[in-house]
Amino acid sequence: MEKYVLVTGASSGIGKSVAISLSENYPVILHGRNLDRLNEVKNICSLHNKCLVWQEDLVQVEKLEEHLQHFLLENEVIIEGYVHCAGLMKMLPLRSQSLINIQETFNTNVVSAMLITKVLSSKKWNKGGLRSIVYISSNISNRGAKAFNVYASSKGALDAFMRSMAVELAPNVRVNSILPGAVFTDMTMDIFANKEVEERMKATYPLGFGHPQDIADGVNFLLSEKARWITGQQLVIDGGRTVDITG
Ligand SMILES: NC(=O)c1ccc[n+]([C@@H]2O[C@H](COP(=O)([O-])OP(=O)(O)OC[C@H]3O[C@@H](n4cnc5c(N)ncnc54)[C@H](OP(=O)(O)O)[C@@H]3O)[C@@H](O)[C@H]2O)c1
Repeated sequence: MEKYVLVTGASSGIGKSVAISLSENYPVILHGRNLDRLNEVKNICSLHNKCLVWQEDLVQVEKLEEHLQHFLLENEVIIEGYVHCAGLMKMLPLRSQSLINIQETFNTNVVSAMLITKVLSSKKWNKGGLRSIVYISSNISNRGAKAFNVYASSKGALDAFMRSMAVELAPNVRVNSILPGAVFTDMTMDIFANKEVEERMKATYPLGFGHPQDIADGVNFLLSEKARWITGQQLVIDGGRTVDITG
């Protein structure tokens, strides 16, 4: 059976860059909702003949385990690496939050990652083939900011889950997360569209803003043998944003 890396959220932004970059070394399963964009990404991938597409809405978590089990059986694949890039961010002050946004954010950012990890770490469904997981968190996970209440707590939960999984799944599976700072993607388009906000934010980034490839390089490292003794860690890739306390 062919061994794959699953990248959720591979249709856009960071996930797209991660998938294209990983495809130089691994056959990749490209996950997302938008089939046209997933197929476009597949065509760019190096091992595109071997790459597969998995279309699944991660807000709908009730049947997620069942759907993934079916996908693994139908395609006869083993997944050795899992990168969770799919994410939802709606900036809202708490007074404007709704139960539906809280649930959709948590389902996409955390609950789906928990359920996918459960299936992929099971001997029955993935033949004990899983070796490494990288969750894409955010540098807001360990910090705070106005209007980031629900998104930040979803990423904090993802990192807490990562640490427990690192212990629970050792020594067979290494589990880490990457905490990006601001990267130019669809998710941040609205923020960067406001030039005044962009300039203000830029001043807080010692190395300037990031690009999806900066995160993909971190994922490549954490999935590789070079990271064989690294587990349970948050790798912050944010151009120095969160260490800068210049007054
Ligand atoms: N960009 C940043 O500055 C930044 C900073 C820190 C952390 N991050 C994190 O990095 C990850 C990638 O973000 P990005 O900036 O690349 O965002 P993006 O360009 O908006 O991409 C988001 C991806 O998530 C998928 N997705 C969203 N909701 C989904 C759902 N319900 N079901 C299935 N897939 C869903 C999208 O798939 P479809 O379009 O096909 O639905 C898309 O592939 C996220 O976890 C984000 O929180 C980003």
